Amino acid sequence: MKDVQSELEQRVRVAIVEAFGPDGADADPVVRPAADAKFGDFQANGAMGLAKRLKRKPRDVAEAIVAGLGDADGLLQGVEVAGPGFINLTLRADTLSGAIVGLAADDRLGLGLADDRADRVVVDYASPNLAKEMHIGHLRSTIIGDALARVFEAMGDTVIRQNHIGDWGTQFGMLLEHLIGSGWSAESAESSGIADLNALYQEAKKRDDSDAAFAERARQRVVALQSGDAASRALWQGLIGESVRHMNAVFTRLGVKLTDDDLCAESFYNDKLPAVCSDLETAGIAERSDGALCVFGAERKEDETPLIVQKSDGGFGYATTDLAAVRYRVGDLEADRVVYVVDSRQREHFEKFFDAARRAGWAEESVRLDYVSFGTILGPDRRPFKTREGGTVKLVDVLDEAVRRAGAVIAEKNPELPTEERDEVARVVGVGAVKYADLSNDRIKDYVFDYDRMLALEGNTAPYLQYSYTRVASILRKAGLTEAGALGGAVRVGEPAERRLALLLLRYGSVVASVGEALEPHRLCNYLYDLAGAFHRFYEACPVLKAGDDALVMSRLALSALTGRAIRQGLGLLGIGVVERM
Ligand code: ARG
Repeated sequence: MKDVQSELEQRVRVAIVEAFGPDGADADPVVRPAADAKFGDFQANGAMGLAKRLKRKPRDVAEAIVAGLGDADGLLQGVEVAGPGFINLTLRADTLSGAIVGLAADDRLGLGLADDRADRVVVDYASPNLAKEMHIGHLRSTIIGDALARVFEAMGDTVIRQNHIGDWGTQFGMLLEHLIGSGWSAESAESSGIADLNALYQEAKKRDDSDAAFAERARQRVVALQSGDAASRALWQGLIGESVRHMNAVFTRLGVKLTDDDLCAESFYNDKLPAVCSDLETAGIAERSDGALCVFGAERKEDETPLIVQKSDGGFGYATTDLAAVRYRVGDLEADRVVYVVDSRQREHFEKFFDAARRAGWAEESVRLDYVSFGTILGPDRRPFKTREGGTVKLVDVLDEAVRRAGAVIAEKNPELPTEERDEVARVVGVGAVKYADLSNDRIKDYVFDYDRMLALEGNTAPYLQYSYTRVASILRKAGLTEAGALGGAVRVGEPAERRLALLLLRYGSVVASVGEALEPHRLCNYLYDLAGAFHRFYEACPVLKAGDDALVMSRLALSALTGRAIRQGLGLLGIGVVERM
C-alpha cells in the first residue's frame, strides 16, 4: 500500500456509512496531511459538514465515526477527536514503514496514471510572435507550459504540444515592406542573423509609426503576402526560417521540449479562415456590424466589444485564427482538452473566443478548454522588467547572466571542482534558477526578477533543491551504493524526523496530480522545498552512515535515496536538472 492517505480516506468513508447509513454516503471525509505533528499524521474533517446536514453536534458525529473506524485494521496507532470535530489520525510505525517500502519499489513514486481519463491534451505554449528576438516576455508561457506538458505526460495523458507562432500578422507587412524597400532579398535574410532582424524590426516600426504612406504600403504588403505574392513569400520564408532557428536555440538552452514537430504557425490556418467566418455567419453566431463580421455574447449587452472575426477591409485577425485552431485541434487532432498558456492580458480574448467556439459546436462541453494565465515579470523598480536603458530584455542575455552568476556561486562554494564540471554545473544551476523562480510563484501574480534571490543556496530556490540532491548523492557515494541499490531493503521509521520525512515522501504522487488538476506548478515547488527541509532536519537528527546497526543504516539510506529520487523527478517535471555534486 503506497497511498496511505486514500486508504485512510476509504476507511473513514466506510465508518461514516456504518454509523449514519446511506445518509452519510456522500459525506466528504477529506483526509489530509496534518498541518502540524501535534494533530497526528493525518486529519479528517468530514464530521463538521455531516453534522450540519444531520443537525447533530459535530463532536458527536466525530465520536461515532471514530468508534466505527477503530484502529483501521491495525493501520492506526492513535485516533482522537479534536477541537470542534476534527479527527486526528496517527499511523502505526510499521504502517508507515510498509508504505515506504512500497514507495521504494515504485519508479513512479506513487504517481498514479490517469488511465481513467488518459486525455489527449493539446498544450499551446511559448507561441511567440516571430520577427523579434525571444525576450523576457516569452519566458513564462514557455516554461509554465513546458512544466504542465511534462506533468500531463507523467500522468499518462497523450500530450500534443503546439507552438502557435505568430508569423502572419501586420508586423510582417511592416518588416517586409521595409526590407524590400531597402533592397533585401530572400538570400540576404537567410544569412543576416536575427540580431540584425531585431534592429530592422525597430526601424520598420519607427517608419510605420511616423510615415503614413509607408504604413499604407505595409498594410498592402500583408495582403500581398497572405494572397501568395511570390516575392513577398520568398523573403517571408527567409525571415521565418531565421527566426525559428533562433527560437530553437533558445529552447535548447532553456531545456524546453519544443521542436519543429510542434510548430503550428498562425499561417497554417490561413486557408481555413474564410470558412470559419462563413460558418459562423450561417449559424447566426456572427453578424455584420459597421462592415466588420462580429461575434457578440449570447446575451448581447449594450456597448459590448465584440469578437471581430473579419475586419471591414476583409482581413482576418488573431481571433479568427484561434477559432480555426480550436476547430483543428478538436476536430483533427482529436483533443479532449486544450490548454492555453498565455499572459493574463489576453483574458477577454480567451473568454470571448471560448464562448464563440462552444456556441459554434467546435468545442463541445465535453472538451475542456483551459486558459492558464499568468502575471508579469517585474524589474527591481516593480515595473515590467526592462534593460537599464529601458529596452526589451533578451532571453539569451538573461540566461547568460544567470549562468555566469551561478558559476561564481559554485566557484566560491566548491573551489575544488574541475573547471569543466563547474561550467556544466553552472549551466544546470543558472538555467534551473531562472525557471524555478518563475514556476515557484503563484502564476497569477506578478513577480520581481531578482538574480541574487533566485540563485541563493538557501530558501525556496532551485539551487537549494539541487544542493539538497547533491547531499543525498554524496551520502550514497560514501555508502558505495546506487540509488536503486539503497532502495531494496526493510525500512524502520521511528524518530520524529524520519516520520515527517516519510510522510512527505508519501505525498509525492498526490502533489503532482494536484499540479495537473489545478494547473499550478508552484504546488510542486512548495512541496519539494518542504521535502528538502524535512530531509535536512532528518539528516541533522538521525545519523545515516553512523546510525549504529546495519539495518538502521540501510533504512536511513533508503529514506535518503527516496528523497533524492523525489527531488530529481520533481525537478524533472518542472524541466529542471540536477547534478551529482556542486
Ligand atoms: N503569439 C501570441 C502573442 O504573442 C500568443 C499566442 C497564444 N496562443 C494562442 N492560441 N492565441 O501574444
